[in-house]
Amino acid sequence: MSPVSFIVFVIIILSSTLLLRRRKSRRGQLPPGPPGWPIVGNMFQLGSMPHRTLNDLRDKYGEVIWLNFGAKDTMVLLSAKAATDFFKNHDLSFADRNIIEIMRAHDYYRSSLALAPYGSFWRLLRRLVTIDMLVNKRINETVSIRRKCVNDMLIWIEKEASQGNGEGRRSIHVARFVFLSSFNLLGNLMLSRDLLDPNSKDAAEFFASMIGLMEWGGHPNISDFFPFLRWLDPQGLKRKMKRDLGKAMKIASKFVKERVEEMKEGDRVRKDFLDVLLEFEGNGKDEPAKLSDEQLNIFILEIFLAGSETTSSSIEWALTELLCKPESLNRVKAELAEVVGPNRKLEESDIENLPYLQAVIKENLRLHPPIPFLIPRRAMEDTNFNGYHIPKNTQVLINAWAIGRDPDVWSEPLSFKPERFLGSKVDYKGQNYELIPFGAGRRMCAGVPLAHRMLNLLLGSLLHEFDWELDCCKETMDMTDRLGITMRKSEPLYALPKSKRCI
Ligand code: HEM
Repeated sequence: MSPVSFIVFVIIILSSTLLLRRRKSRRGQLPPGPPGWPIVGNMFQLGSMPHRTLNDLRDKYGEVIWLNFGAKDTMVLLSAKAATDFFKNHDLSFADRNIIEIMRAHDYYRSSLALAPYGSFWRLLRRLVTIDMLVNKRINETVSIRRKCVNDMLIWIEKEASQGNGEGRRSIHVARFVFLSSFNLLGNLMLSRDLLDPNSKDAAEFFASMIGLMEWGGHPNISDFFPFLRWLDPQGLKRKMKRDLGKAMKIASKFVKERVEEMKEGDRVRKDFLDVLLEFEGNGKDEPAKLSDEQLNIFILEIFLAGSETTSSSIEWALTELLCKPESLNRVKAELAEVVGPNRKLEESDIENLPYLQAVIKENLRLHPPIPFLIPRRAMEDTNFNGYHIPKNTQVLINAWAIGRDPDVWSEPLSFKPERFLGSKVDYKGQNYELIPFGAGRRMCAGVPLAHRMLNLLLGSLLHEFDWELDCCKETMDMTDRLGITMRKSEPLYALPKSKRCI
């Protein structure tokens, strides 16, 4: 045995003995949960679909369960009732995030809104997003940008589908086009740039490194469960993250410098998210006087990470559900035909007159929340929750997937029935804890107003401009999911778009 392996071996034995002793002494005060194995705890019991495995434990252990992933103490909430108690009465005690190891690369977590500790810097970034960037007035000013990006997507789809090698039209990989469109849309809102411009080397490199970040973010990392392995980075995930994050930050910083020069020349009129960040002036006391270069670069990346994959996986599921349920598909198409008509494209201003389309989006997010455990929270202090003693630093997973199927609040929870939302006040804006695809409470998604418009506009446009046919038969459609950075369909949806008119 080499000296390094010997040291690792001794550390593992010592820390597991301490861990087991600590666990035994606290067992009575903690929520119930399945017994774990020595050292690794419940780490290998969850399989590739942990949201489902954990949901299945509810019958045996109840709505609040306790698990250990290596050294990581974890509480999991599985019902709308538990989520209600959590968000209504204990949101503040759990307002910090659990930081995973790869997010420590280049100190990403320090400047990230989604991961920042609950405090003044988080409050400042949150205010910039929710008040200066995404209030309805500001979103209304950028309607034409979104319309253009969605139009581009429709043209790409038409082009791809009509290149059928002489055999007529061919099916397309739906999520790929929606991802590109969302990415482009966020690029335009954030930086007023076309990041898919084939003539821009910077844009291509930025896109490639962002894809890398999303890839590494979706892998479970053993260093998160055994902190003493962090220095070894056994899967090399942090090294890869560091490489791609470094590249993306360098390009983002180039974009920022170009903008600063442009501002000096004084001929900028339109305000995008980057202008808001550059114009920010803090009080210099509990908030910085200016945002640092690093904070700016990380903010830029965060918007892409938050909005592109979530949107595309959601649309892929929504179209899949509709193609498997012709009654719902016909109803939403009929609504679009009546409200929008055959001679024009769907506009954002139509959305409020399309209740069934909105109900389809909600029903889809109920069954397929793209981030099924939300972004894990962390107990900021020892807390009494649901009659249990939850120690400081416990990680909290809120299983939004299980909550969306909670039989105590949803009738026929497994059926795709958009009608359930017609005439109902239940919404995903954080007040109804049975429907929390965007989370709730203080750390709820900051992008809901934008996501709401993007989802309705993208799905509505795909349905209004094309008639879709499945490649396979709907009875044999694979409906399983896999968890990466978001919860995607295991088998990507390929469908055949037939255009109804000239795009
Ligand atoms: C389908 C689209 C989207 C879904 C399903 C989604 C979902 C989520 C969820 C579940 C969280 C964690 C909430 C919690 O822990 O309680 C979150 C956080 C966040 N989202 Fe979204 N999101 C979407 C789109 C967007 C967009 C378009 C943006 C920005 C332009 C955005 C920005 C953020 C930010 C900044 C946070 C962190 C908030 C904080 O920690 O204070 N999201 N999102």
